[in-house]
Amino acid sequence: MVNEAGNGTDGRKLVRSFGVLQLTMISVGATLGTGIFVILGDSVPLAGPAIFLAFVIAGIAALLSAMSYAEMAGMVPVSGSSYSYTYATLGEGMAWICGWCLVLEYAVSVAAVAVGAGQYVNESVAGLGWVLPDFISQPPGSGGLLNLPAMVIVLFSMVLLVRGAKESAWVNTAMVMVKIVVLLFFCAVAFTAFNSGNFSPLMPMGAAGVSAAASRVFFSYIGFDAASTAGEEAKNPQRDLPRAIMLSMIIVTTIYVLVAVAAIGAREWTWFEGTQASLVKILLEITNQPWMALVFSLGAVLAITSVVLTVMYGQTRILLSMSRDGLVPKIFGRISEKRGTPVAGTLIVGIAVALTAGVVPLGALADATSIGTLFAFALVNVAVIYLRRSRPAAKRSYKVFLYPVTPILGALMCVYLMVNLGGMTWLVFLAWMIVGFMVYFAYGRRYSRVAALSQADYETLSAADLESDSVSA
Ligand code: ALA
Repeated sequence: MVNEAGNGTDGRKLVRSFGVLQLTMISVGATLGTGIFVILGDSVPLAGPAIFLAFVIAGIAALLSAMSYAEMAGMVPVSGSSYSYTYATLGEGMAWICGWCLVLEYAVSVAAVAVGAGQYVNESVAGLGWVLPDFISQPPGSGGLLNLPAMVIVLFSMVLLVRGAKESAWVNTAMVMVKIVVLLFFCAVAFTAFNSGNFSPLMPMGAAGVSAAASRVFFSYIGFDAASTAGEEAKNPQRDLPRAIMLSMIIVTTIYVLVAVAAIGAREWTWFEGTQASLVKILLEITNQPWMALVFSLGAVLAITSVVLTVMYGQTRILLSMSRDGLVPKIFGRISEKRGTPVAGTLIVGIAVALTAGVVPLGALADATSIGTLFAFALVNVAVIYLRRSRPAAKRSYKVFLYPVTPILGALMCVYLMVNLGGMTWLVFLAWMIVGFMVYFAYGRRYSRVAALSQADYETLSAADLESDSVSA
């Protein structure tokens, strides 16, 4: 069941201010970050020079799912992203599972992303001749007490989001421009040191290594769906959401493959083993200009901050949708009269994410995020197939190509990448789901709007919501 678009639990409306440019920037903003700046370097030892193929494989899974997202976003243009699509198609129970996975995709990934920024903050202050002591720049497991840079980035983004969605979108657009420029600048410099010999042997770890790396770098694509959390703040969501999602995918995939090829062309794959903040090190070794490294590191910090900003934005909007359906407390759905944003929900999310980013290391967070996201993406692919069968006549402003091959392949690719993630990640995922079920039975199931309805009422309402959403906005 999808609620009336634009309504908070207190009846106030979100403000519709986004066009296709801002929506695309929200998705690119949420996507280009720690994955390319940090996880690319960490994954080269898994795949060898074929790391760029790992980006292509993960990109295909993301692109197929992006098409399904685009179809769903054009049909159900509200703020809950795949949570709302699942609610409208597969019912409350599956929607809760999806929403719970989205907390992994959004809130937990923000923490991971902010931790990744820490490496570049350290490089930036080193460029200025300072050193941040470990106890305030590393989490407990890595020899420190608190990752303060990560926490500051999260709290800064939280304050911006509280001030207003429109202001945040403009700051985000500026930061996205900066990150595209610094990554293209990196490519231009790295290509001057290009050595085609670095690509041989292409797959020293075999196909299995490339598959494992594809699952690891999938993290870089998380976030393209962020535009779909802005459905109720978009001026023309049915036309612009599908365009923004597809455009952002094209932009980020091109940049990822370029950066990966440039990085491997510049340095042998074995060089990446144990190298932190590898892109800036490549730049420094080629140019021998510390100021360039400083500018790049500052650009990377800004780039990663825009991911934190937009992904945290997405999390607050998904919680708003879930709160309207009664699955999480009403406070997440309250919209401030003065700001037109869910201020209380934003503060709660911001503080929780800042605390997580302060104490948890990156690797553990990144893989957990990927598995939850892949599961949510698989559900969206299934939802497309389900809706094509159950509601063939509903209005669709965008349709996936080659139906049903695309969503079937999309779901299978997600499962393939999930299977490649390690046993420990699966254990974390299972534990997360068990906690999710406990929360659902202790809270959501009792307080949800569906709990107050008979099954027949629910089915009637679900169908009506879907139809009214498909023509609204
Ligand atoms: N895709 C986002 C990043 O790489 C999560 O930072």
